[in-house]
Amino acid sequence: MAEILLGVTGSIAAYKAAELASSLTKAGHAVHVILTRAATQFITPLTFQSLTGQAVYTDMFAEVQVHDVQHISLAKRADLVLLAPASANLIGKLVGGIADDMLTTVCMAAHRKRTLLCPAMNTAMWENPVVQGNVAKLQALGVELMQPREARLACGDVGRGALAETADILARVEEMLHDAP
Ligand SMILES: Cc1cc2nc3c(=O)[nH]c(=O)nc-3n(C[C@H](O)[C@H](O)[C@H](O)COP(=O)(O)O)c2cc1C
Repeated sequence: MAEILLGVTGSIAAYKAAELASSLTKAGHAVHVILTRAATQFITPLTFQSLTGQAVYTDMFAEVQVHDVQHISLAKRADLVLLAPASANLIGKLVGGIADDMLTTVCMAAHRKRTLLCPAMNTAMWENPVVQGNVAKLQALGVELMQPREARLACGDVGRGALAETADILARVEEMLHDAP
């Protein structure tokens, strides 16, 4: 059993993170979900809390009452960080060293942990050289990438940008946990 930190951002693909959380929990892992504020526009914390049986984090300052600095303890105990779906914004923040919400702050503290980045965005966003450059920088730092798929996207465009298939993400997570030093 592993401790998995699942970061969910503001993408139309956020609902697919619920399936990831459910499958990982059924596989015996403890899944700690962090939603960005934008993610809560697409899916509720209650969905993840119900599926994982764990507290769900959205606000860095709401957690201070429990006498535990949650962004540090979550980062420390994670065996793997799964960012799915990862927005263009999150990718940019990670590269820029920005830690202005719970998810980016935990990621900042979890830089030694194995991380699987699963981007999802419109094709034009994905093909933007800024995004491509940011992804390459994260890969150079050791972050593993699940390439987005080609598909008809929610916006109607056809092209690369759809979140990788759930089964493929789950298989990669298990591989990474298995290969962990
Ligand atoms: C309907 C809708 C769908 C969106 N889908 C995506 C997406 O798939 N990928 C993405 O990078 N941004 C998407 N966005 C834009 C992000 O939500 C926006 O950049 C937000 O600031 C991301 O914040 P976060 O990275 O903190 O979650 C979408 C916005 C809307 C309104």
